[in-house]
Amino acid sequence: MLHIGIIGLGAIGQRLIKKFKEHPDVEITAVCDRLESLARETADALGGVPVYTDYQSLVADQRVDLIYVAVPPKFHHPIVMDVLRAKKHVLCEKPLANSLDEAKEMAQAAKEAGVIHAMNFPLNYEQGATKFAQMISENYVGKLRRLHLTMHFPEWPRFWQKNDWVGEREQGGFVLEVGVHFIQQTLKVFGDIKNIQTRLELPDDPQKCETGVIATGELEDGTPVLIEGLSQIAGKEHIAFTAYGSEGILSLENWGELRGGKNGEGLIAISFGETKPNRLIDELVKAANGQEAELYDFDLGYRAQEILEELRKM
Ligand SMILES: NC(=O)c1ccc[n+]([C@@H]2O[C@H](COP(=O)([O-])OP(=O)(O)OC[C@H]3O[C@@H](n4cnc5c(N)ncnc54)[C@H](O)[C@@H]3O)[C@@H](O)[C@H]2O)c1
Repeated sequence: MLHIGIIGLGAIGQRLIKKFKEHPDVEITAVCDRLESLARETADALGGVPVYTDYQSLVADQRVDLIYVAVPPKFHHPIVMDVLRAKKHVLCEKPLANSLDEAKEMAQAAKEAGVIHAMNFPLNYEQGATKFAQMISENYVGKLRRLHLTMHFPEWPRFWQKNDWVGEREQGGFVLEVGVHFIQQTLKVFGDIKNIQTRLELPDDPQKCETGVIATGELEDGTPVLIEGLSQIAGKEHIAFTAYGSEGILSLENWGELRGGKNGEGLIAISFGETKPNRLIDELVKAANGQEAELYDFDLGYRAQEILEELRKM
């Protein structure tokens, strides 16, 4: 049994709690949030597990093997560093940190601690992105001509994200929050991105995050990468990660839909067929048992952070 402690019980913390609860090989052993009412409510809903408002007490709890850190980005560094000092396994929310220096220190400390250090990049464990990666590796689009990420939000923060940080320049913004998932997918499926040039649209209020980005970069072989995003616009949220190739187009849209077509044909919805991705929690359990597992570690989180910081340069 893998004993999990959770720090941060907000929107995403609650989402993963559901998955941990369903898994026969893990147990939620303790929870922590600095909001006492939320911490107590969550602990009660879990049948009265030990509850803390001070994360250091959870880190020190001897019953906990792996700590899931689901607090806003600027708190990842201090908390994860303490988890690593305690030599406990850690699952950290994305982005790894709130600056490159922090991310570097965390990746280094994780390596030295010799523990499992995984990031929660959920696209890797979903059918759409898994099928996308598989079709690209099977050469569906032919030779890649351009990679294009579109992120359009009628409203940022979205209605379900009305917290005090995701709309702020310090640690929020859609480039960081949403862009990171597709930067990670790019690193995984297509390799590194170099030569980034970026132009942000920033509101007058210096506290508020970007409302637009247009950035270009290139893959190792020079294939252009175009990243563009806008918020506070008409229409619906639209996110598309599109590979244009010599033979066709493949697009992962709105997180879980795939559309594609060969040159000369229209684009059609592509079904996932038998695609059966691994599941994050199974993979954590495997890793804790010393088996090979599909996890995305802090080194990858660090590289993604380097790219994100370039995209967010003002
Ligand atoms: N992987 C994903 O798909 C995904 C999706 C959304 C958010 N996230 C990431 O998850 C993290 C949390 O996002 P969220 O939307 O759940 O935020 P949120 O604001 O809804 O929740 C964060 C919680 O952390 C608590 N907290 C803050 N500092 C703390 C501390 N020092 N000790 C204990 N508790 C503390 C807050 O009280 C709050 O309840 C962020 O890093 C975000 O980028 C990831």
